[in-house]
Amino acid sequence: MFVCNCNGVRMRDMTVAVDAVIGSGAPTVDAVYAACGVAPKCGRCKVDIRRMLDAANTSSCALAAE
Ligand code: FES
Repeated sequence: MFVCNCNGVRMRDMTVAVDAVIGSGAPTVDAVYAACGVAPKCGRCKVDIRRMLDAANTSSCALAAE
């Protein structure tokens, strides 16, 4: 399944990029594009990437609280 159709970025690759960006401490959508080695085109995937970042950030906060 593709998250970003314009750049052909699949969910598994986007998940790796999101995890890397969360770990870097700069969780921005643009940083995720950069981690994937692509640039945004139509921008339709930005909402999905933002949701992935928020979900990953929430789960890493929950782990830190344990
Ligand atoms: S779907 Fe990602 S930039 Fe168009």
